[in-house]
Amino acid sequence: MGIKIIATGRYLPRNIVTNDDFTGIVDTSDEWISQRTGMKERHIASGEPTWLMGELAARDALESGGIDPLSIDLILVTSVTPDYMTPSAACIIQGRIGAANAACIDLNAACAGFVYALDMARRYLCFDDVRRVLIVSAEELSKITDYTDRASCVLFGDAAGAVVVEAADTPFASVIGADGTGAPLLYAKSPAVNENPFRKPELAPEYEEIIHAKNHFLYMDGREVYKFAVKIMPHAVQEACDKLGVPVEAIDLLVPHQANVRIVDTAVKTLGLPPERVYVNLAKHGNVSSACIPLCLDEINKGGLVQPGRRIALVGFGAGLTYASAIFTW
Ligand code: ACO
Repeated sequence: MGIKIIATGRYLPRNIVTNDDFTGIVDTSDEWISQRTGMKERHIASGEPTWLMGELAARDALESGGIDPLSIDLILVTSVTPDYMTPSAACIIQGRIGAANAACIDLNAACAGFVYALDMARRYLCFDDVRRVLIVSAEELSKITDYTDRASCVLFGDAAGAVVVEAADTPFASVIGADGTGAPLLYAKSPAVNENPFRKPELAPEYEEIIHAKNHFLYMDGREVYKFAVKIMPHAVQEACDKLGVPVEAIDLLVPHQANVRIVDTAVKTLGLPPERVYVNLAKHGNVSSACIPLCLDEINKGGLVQPGRRIALVGFGAGLTYASAIFTW
């Protein structure tokens, strides 16, 4: 059993920040950012919370698809920047959009989150009691970006994307995985600190350093993440093709995670896919973590860029280190 995407939506903050805007805060240039990443501008939030970005993307998907929120059985929200540790963003969005019949789950697989969620949605859709799944990927990376670190701050933007998914009698294959030994290469610490009144530091001095490390900004070993990405992306796509029993050339459009145009180009070259069969929008949006892929899907859908029946491949990677790929019919 496969899936079909019946509606898509997006939310982009109004504030657009160009490469030149960064020259005022760190030692960088439009030339360096463009050449090393392919990015030109990104949208940055002005205070709207992550759940609101997700809600607005979900509303866009439901309204543009003419979908009754009460017909949604499950909401999956992916984010590395939730506003609350509890409740889940999925519950907040469910209440705001009036999807009273939907169960709610948040999942965090970093930039691979949307593809993880699609894999999960498809598994739920195999059972009769789940007929329609709303996936919302909402990311406000500006909350955890260190704007004094030129090597990472220029990369990220804020955005939300949403899709509504149903079961379909079409081919589908997915791959999800992780290499947890790479966790120290890319992380952002929770700002919550355990300073309970009963704590006795003398009983556990080894935790003092952890407790007082208050920096919650995103740390990234860019070079190591780059190496992981160019290896895992073609591997994950190839594995999904193998599961489906089709060659890579059978992919009509590849939608990769939008981390860096050089990563995408290298992965695509390894796969042997022609560049015109790859969707890239990072020049306009930067890296918006798990929102990258649904944002691309919304542009593709609303722009009528793919004919029904075409084979789409998705591939993501991110903190964890996680990776995921999926192939389905448009
Ligand atoms: N402007 C100017 N110079 C810079 C900048 C900048 N913004 N950033 C770094 N540099 C400098 C470095 O300091 C270094 O200078 P040095 O040689 O004097 O030390 C030089 O440029 C080269 O640095 P590198 O790190 O080798 O640059 P590289 O070409 O590898 O590009 C980048 C860095 C863009 C971060 C790249 O490594 C990359 O894309 N990595 C992967 C990032 C990624 O995929 N992240 C995804 C996950 S994000 C998430 O999960 C939310």
